[in-house]
Amino acid sequence: MNTATARAGANIALVKYWGKRDPRLNLPAAGSLSITLADLETVTRIEVDQGLDADRFELDGRSADPRPVAAVLDLLRPAGGPRCRVVSRNNFPTGAGLASSASGHAALVVAAAAIFCPQMGSGDLAAIARRGSGSASRSLFGGFCQLHAGVAEDGSDCRVEGLEEAGYWPLEVVVAITDAGPKAVSSRAGMNRTMATSPYYPAWVASVSADLERARRAVADRDFDELAEVSEHSALKMHASALAAQPGLLYWNAATVACLRRVRELRDQGVGVFFTVDAGPQVKAVCLPGQADRVAASLASIAGVEQVLRSGLGPGARLVES
Ligand code: PMV
Repeated sequence: MNTATARAGANIALVKYWGKRDPRLNLPAAGSLSITLADLETVTRIEVDQGLDADRFELDGRSADPRPVAAVLDLLRPAGGPRCRVVSRNNFPTGAGLASSASGHAALVVAAAAIFCPQMGSGDLAAIARRGSGSASRSLFGGFCQLHAGVAEDGSDCRVEGLEEAGYWPLEVVVAITDAGPKAVSSRAGMNRTMATSPYYPAWVASVSADLERARRAVADRDFDELAEVSEHSALKMHASALAAQPGLLYWNAATVACLRRVRELRDQGVGVFFTVDAGPQVKAVCLPGQADRVAASLASIAGVEQVLRSGLGPGARLVES
């Protein structure tokens, strides 16, 4: 096969990943639990081109640095294997804390594996996606999944477990974009700074396994109130550890805070909704089925909210038939 196209949804962690136990292998210090989105996605086409002497990468219609893509391809193709033309498109803002690196790496790995290692199983694919971006391994799975950090030095027990498919609990996600520009500090750099300088980092890592247990149980019981509590706690705790780094990492703007307050007000009024925030200023509001219209309208009315996106839960990364 000389060409392959894959699509992958972004995913949103409800129990966050923030920090690594091995930066070289990109092994997380603690596990995480996420939902995969149906409507925020990356589509990536790879074409082997024997005439190229280096990989080429086009992202959202523009030529981009091919080195991160080449590093992932090198994990899948034979040494000295052919170079590729990789064309990737996100249907949502890239690099703004909306998990474009997760969907991007997941789509890249699935398309590249179809060309170079068609027999590779999902566990090995997830390990390669994780090398590109820690959260990317979660986008290989649909619905609800958990990334287990493992303890083995070689990362062999760092694996993703699919918990439930998307249809099991059709939650909806409203994303309030408060600044579509690229974020100032990448997740990778933010984690490194937190690990190196935040006095709260050890406490954060030590607290994650209890959150994972709680969130797993809440998903198994479809207990929205419990999932809301543990998810907001995890997000705020992650940001607390980052805020305490030196210099402190402040990913939020005024509209971010206004959205967080609005989500809490809505919940106090009986609306089934909770928030989470990643390494950027956008707010993700996770809604019970039937509540997203009201949440989207309310967040859209906040000063500083530039755009509101919506998504249901979706399947894991997959090949697109050509
Ligand atoms: O996968 P990375 O390296 O982009 O890190 C993701 C970090 C967060 O989005 C903030 C949390 C998470 O678990 O997705």
